[in-house]
Amino acid sequence: MNLATLEQVIKDAESALAKATDLAALDAWHIKYFGKEKGEIQELLRHIPQLPPAERGTVGKAINQGKLALEAAYNARHQAMASEALDAQLATERIDVTLPSRRTTAGHAHPVLAIKQELIEIFSHYGFAVAEGPEIEDDWHNFTALNTPADHPARDAQDTFYLRPSAAGAPGGMLLRTHTSSVQIRAMQKQKPPLRLIMPGRVYRRDEVTKRHYPIFHQLEGLMVEPGTHMGHVKGLLTGMLHALFGKQLQMRLRPSFFPFTEPSAEYDVQCPFCNFEGCGTCSYSGWIELGGCGMVDPNVLKAVGYDPEQVTGLAFGFGIDRVAMIRYGFNDIRHLWENDARFLQQF
Ligand code: PHE
Repeated sequence: MNLATLEQVIKDAESALAKATDLAALDAWHIKYFGKEKGEIQELLRHIPQLPPAERGTVGKAINQGKLALEAAYNARHQAMASEALDAQLATERIDVTLPSRRTTAGHAHPVLAIKQELIEIFSHYGFAVAEGPEIEDDWHNFTALNTPADHPARDAQDTFYLRPSAAGAPGGMLLRTHTSSVQIRAMQKQKPPLRLIMPGRVYRRDEVTKRHYPIFHQLEGLMVEPGTHMGHVKGLLTGMLHALFGKQLQMRLRPSFFPFTEPSAEYDVQCPFCNFEGCGTCSYSGWIELGGCGMVDPNVLKAVGYDPEQVTGLAFGFGIDRVAMIRYGFNDIRHLWENDARFLQQF
């Protein structure tokens, strides 16, 4: 090795560096010349001891100068390329932080669920807890224990979904519960008075599908059994509930009625908000919408669950949650609740 070969190596290195156009080529170049083991600069330095002592100093100096120059050139290119690469990346991955964000759509409660939760909240203030029971029910809990005689029309297969048609109305048969009153029975069998319970849930009846009827709907039933309970409590609770739901502008009324499981019995109506109580298709031109039934628990029902009707009295009421949702949200076709049309549901 002499100064000439040394200069050649350095020149080659310079031109190779000029040809490296990306970071990968630059890295390869660095390994080729500056690699610890086999790098060419290292190779040159290794030759120094073989030179005549007089030349060692000059050659060594020349190698070091060449090495420094190459390193500086390499660093400069590397920096330039790295910042170019970063600029390119920033340009393609640019985020405009001033753009308005996309709205995320959060789900929300179905109108029936929203009203059910509101009702649970309202009645909790009166000390009522929630009780639930099965939707597939036996004849005894749905009818017999509720003082409903064998020839009552509600037991008819025209009105009730029996799981085995031959068992229609026969004691012991299974059916889809026609009201949540069956949960009254289950609750009273389990607990001794005093009790205050509400029973929300799905119920089934063989109804034609119309604007106001659907074969599946939701009921909320209330039951309060305490000594001294009377019809005034029924009226007070229902009035309180209606005021909490609709404010004080909608009046309610009780009409004498009949249910096998309550005596006396009443139905209760709320003023029709669709026509300002003047009468329209929704309220059958009466100005009132029927919400449900209520009354004092019939002594026969108390006896069926082992209570002593001489010791306790109870009140019960029940109504359609779907109907409350219709009044609250102002739509007059119950079928909307079941069609899962997002345009309808998103409004609530
Ligand atoms: N179970 C009755 C119905 O489904 C409603 C009701 C409940 C009536 C409690 C009186 C007392 O129509």
